[in-house]
Amino acid sequence: MKNVKRIVCLILSVLLLSSLLGASVGAETAAGSGPVRVSACVAGDNGQTVGFCWYTAEPTDSVVTLRDESGAPLAGAKLSDPVCEEWEGMWMHKVTASDLPAETLIAYTVGDGNATVSGTFKTGGAADSVKFIEIADVQASSAENFEKGAATLRAAFGAMPDAAFVANCGDFTNDSTNEEWDLYDASFGELNRTYLLAPVSGNHDGFGVENWFNNMFNLDTSESVQTKNGVNYSFDYGNAHFAVLNTNDCLNVSKPQLKWLKNDMNSTDKDWKIVFIHKSPYTLGKDGKWPDALQLQKTLTKVCDETNVDLVIGGHDHQYLRTKPLTGNKLDPNGTTYLLSGTAGSKRYEVREFLAEHFMKKEFIAALVIQKGGYGNFWNGSDWRSTDERNIGGCYNTVEIDGGTLTLKSFILGDESQESMQIDQLELTKKTGENKITYTGDNTTSKAAYAVGSVASYASLLVYTFTNWLPRFLALVPELIYSVAVYDTF
Ligand SMILES: [Fe+2]
Ligand SMILES: [Fe+2]
Repeated sequence: MKNVKRIVCLILSVLLLSSLLGASVGAETAAGSGPVRVSACVAGDNGQTVGFCWYTAEPTDSVVTLRDESGAPLAGAKLSDPVCEEWEGMWMHKVTASDLPAETLIAYTVGDGNATVSGTFKTGGAADSVKFIEIADVQASSAENFEKGAATLRAAFGAMPDAAFVANCGDFTNDSTNEEWDLYDASFGELNRTYLLAPVSGNHDGFGVENWFNNMFNLDTSESVQTKNGVNYSFDYGNAHFAVLNTNDCLNVSKPQLKWLKNDMNSTDKDWKIVFIHKSPYTLGKDGKWPDALQLQKTLTKVCDETNVDLVIGGHDHQYLRTKPLTGNKLDPNGTTYLLSGTAGSKRYEVREFLAEHFMKKEFIAALVIQKGGYGNFWNGSDWRSTDERNIGGCYNTVEIDGGTLTLKSFILGDESQESMQIDQLELTKKTGENKITYTGDNTTSKAAYAVGSVASYASLLVYTFTNWLPRFLALVPELIYSVAVYDTF
């Protein structure tokens, strides 16, 4: 029955899109001569507020049209005043659509009113369910590697064609240049115009160039503690509440952002609480030995423990690792599951066996899949360096929440086979209706509070580095030297 619904939904989407494409074929522009880098981001609950962003080579009007499934102009929807600003030699356009009807397949065009690009997305509603896809770390520079990342996402839609949105946990590109974002758009653009996106800022997404990430997307910045190197925001979808963090904030997650997260998670009575992040606290990859991400084991996890977060999904370390549920850095069946989601791209990191027991207990690992060939690309519980060629490929994750059940399924799209293989599955269950709202105050951060909080955040990272991280790092140096000498792995 579910498959029949999926097929009907897919056919309706294709018919609607093709009818609109047919109606506006004369006006449609080729990429490069009109709107490019088009995205429709989740900017409010259930995708009923959507932030459109696109770029043009020259300044133009910023026009969004919205139509329903019959092709009629969408009644009741509101459009914000458009923004058109020069950014890095191109022109950035932003328009936010709000008051969109629930459970509706919406077709849109963006452009100057004449030269337009079309897309579709579907809004959510009151259902106690939601499905979404998560990918991370495409982090490509070349057309070939962006194409591999796009193939991974296409495979994800093959596994979950009716996903409500896609969360991309960061590192969209490698160097965040205009050239790379255009290559990203060339590979992902057509697919990107068929869904709602929830982007997460990665450290490769313009870190060091103020507002780059914020200017690539149109997000709800109303509660973001700052927008210079990323955006934190949150939204509901179905019976779940999602918070998106910015791990470029004071090198990981600042104290003001943690305060925001705590208030945000206490402001919801949704059944499920999920956090998207870039730098993952639990990892055995290349970055799993540095204090920026590792401090999150002390700071982020504390807030997740206090607010009963169910699942944290992140990236950054280009391998797949799911922890067992944890509370206070200890196993706890009622704790939070941390998922390092694997890379959807082709830059893959080997396992650093020497990190186990130093920065993360081996017993925390529920699943570990290394996507890089020639190293331990599948951990079978005892042999870190066993190899399974089928695990060499891009990784994607699907999550389905239905009432009190959350099902995570993780897949690799084999480089050679171009077939998806499921590598992991997790089912969480809970009693619904138990979460209570305990915070109703203002959850914005003043510039002064952020400045004070930043100083405190850097000081806290410094203290952590010298009192916690350094002694543990020094203890692993012999194993690190052995690993470099024998496996050439730092
Ligand atoms: Fe990355
Ligand atoms: Fe990263």
